[in-house]
Amino acid sequence: MANVTVLVGAQWGDEGKGKVIDVLTERAEWVVRYQGGNNAGHTVEIAGARHVLHLIPSGIFRPPTRCVIGNGVVVDPLALRDEIAEVRQAGIPVDGRLFLSDRAHLVLPYHRAFDAGRERALGQGERIGTTQRGIGPAYVDKAMRVGLRAAALADPDFPMEIRRRLEAANVQLRQQGHAPFEVEPLAEKLSAAAAELAPSVADTAWMLDEACRRGERILFEGAQGTMLDVDFGTYPFVTSSNATAGGACTGSGLPPNRIGRVIGVLKAYTTRVGEGPFPTELNDAVGEELRRVGGEYGATTGRPRRCGWFDAVVARYSARINGVDEWALTKLDVLDGFETVRICVAYEHGGRRLETVPADLRVLAACRPVYEDHPGWRQPLRHIRSPADLPPLARSYLVRIEELTGVPIGILSVGPGRENTIVLPRPGIPA
Ligand code: IMP
Repeated sequence: MANVTVLVGAQWGDEGKGKVIDVLTERAEWVVRYQGGNNAGHTVEIAGARHVLHLIPSGIFRPPTRCVIGNGVVVDPLALRDEIAEVRQAGIPVDGRLFLSDRAHLVLPYHRAFDAGRERALGQGERIGTTQRGIGPAYVDKAMRVGLRAAALADPDFPMEIRRRLEAANVQLRQQGHAPFEVEPLAEKLSAAAAELAPSVADTAWMLDEACRRGERILFEGAQGTMLDVDFGTYPFVTSSNATAGGACTGSGLPPNRIGRVIGVLKAYTTRVGEGPFPTELNDAVGEELRRVGGEYGATTGRPRRCGWFDAVVARYSARINGVDEWALTKLDVLDGFETVRICVAYEHGGRRLETVPADLRVLAACRPVYEDHPGWRQPLRHIRSPADLPPLARSYLVRIEELTGVPIGILSVGPGRENTIVLPRPGIPA
């Protein structure tokens, strides 16, 4: 593995990144989150126990790997404190292994209130379907240059500053007809969380650079996915950060010339939570079957995910935007029972064939997928440990994905456990 690897979601998030990161962490000294916040939900299954992480990098389950929450992440101190407690409860050591960038912005309770309020105020067709974790409003404050950063957690004036901000938020909440916060108990709760988190606040950009100079291996863990990126996703139905590979640099302080390899994570079919266009969505029994077999319910909100066939247009676009060197393809086993599996190879719009994702949402929403049908392999794949043992029909499905995207598959996941993961000695499915 290159010394610095970036792992990104290549679709709309929920590609199974947590699991792939967990497998790759075996070969990393550091795992770093660089964007998003506790809108993410990374599920890791270890020895049959299921763990869901929202803010802490999944590397925490592989001591002694150290974990960083970078400056590009927005951090809800109450959520982070609770998550640390849960990880500790699972018997995992956290002290001296988890570092929070002093430049990361805080998500405060009023950000959540504004997120929910804005969603309620928007009409059908306008609503984003956010996770209501306050992510958008926290990034708004960052860009507006009025945010509060993690460095403040260790400031003796933190309780005073929080009271001042809660009072100011109450004025806005009252104006919008919402219930105000009870300032005193909330300020106390936040101050207690600040005191707990303060020892892990550090200049993580410096730390990571030092680690790089020592030749230690760093793995960047992207949250959400390329199609939810604020610049390259289906704007405005996106999250508020750069989920793409470039975000790893701005979100951590590690310069671009340190990045050695980019792994894109793709699900063997497509899902999306929240609103916005989704060309291969299936609103029929096949879509329901994908949801049922794949257990497609949000790790953060429990919402049912919208499901559809594999979209090679999206994958090709992601390959280019992120500079993907190899794919980690997940949940191939979910397709085991299907008689036919379809791949969308292009879009059709107004009699024209489109090979990439159009920026104009109205165009994207009107695109019709052009499908290629592949016969299903109709046998269970979970026990498979080598690509050579894959049934020929499964192999040809994978080879076709490689051809259509121009990127080889390096990791294949055929089940939820660590043991259901095939890491190819060299990327590329043998035809
Ligand atoms: P927000 O990030 O909560 O503002 O939500 C914006 C959009 O991103 C919504 O469509 C969410 O459903 C989606 N989203 C946010 N986080 C995730 C994630 O981790 N997986 C999948 N979708 C996500």
